[in-house]
Amino acid sequence: MKQSILFVCFICSLCLFSACSVFRPAQGEMPPMTDAATLWQYITVTNPYTEWRLTDETEGIKEADPPHGPLVRVYPNRIARVSEYTANEGAIIVMENYDKDGTTLLTIDLMQKRNNYAPSAGNWYWASYEANGTVIKEGKVKQCVECHVSMAFDDYTFIHKW
Ligand code: HEC
Repeated sequence: MKQSILFVCFICSLCLFSACSVFRPAQGEMPPMTDAATLWQYITVTNPYTEWRLTDETEGIKEADPPHGPLVRVYPNRIARVSEYTANEGAIIVMENYDKDGTTLLTIDLMQKRNNYAPSAGNWYWASYEANGTVIKEGKVKQCVECHVSMAFDDYTFIHKW
């Protein structure tokens, strides 16, 4: 009896192990597609955006206009970096907004590509946070879409190029 229980446990853990290794994408690859608080955990703990490699157009601190800025720094995740022409599902762009001296982090904006999320608005999910991670806005934020739609020809981004 004891042996058969052990055997069942062994088989179960084997199945679990193989299921995890087959279906789980590379560590930190596909981000959660849930709410802004979960995404905050993801971009600060699971796959910290500050470690995302910058590309030419996103490197360094730049001047920006309201509602962003006055100085910003843009971080695309790996999915965003390898996307061509338009963002692939799971692409995230994080933007830090600093004060005019570039020393105090004021807020953080984020956009994430989701399949069939908002077909008439580029399928982008939007979020903005206080510097400590408190969620200010999230979801299909009309205000974000209304302005970013002017860049619909480049998948709704101003600084990041696809
Ligand atoms: C009035 C226009 C306007 C509104 C409203 C706006 N944005 Fe932006 N956004 C811009 C511009 C312009 C840039 C490029 C930086 C700059 O010059 O300010 C930008 C850049 C960004 C970026 C960096 C990616 C890129 O290259 O475009 C993110 C992320 C972003 N905005 C998120 C948001 C979110 C989230 C909201 C809503 C809470 C929002 N934006 C509302 C105009 C706007």
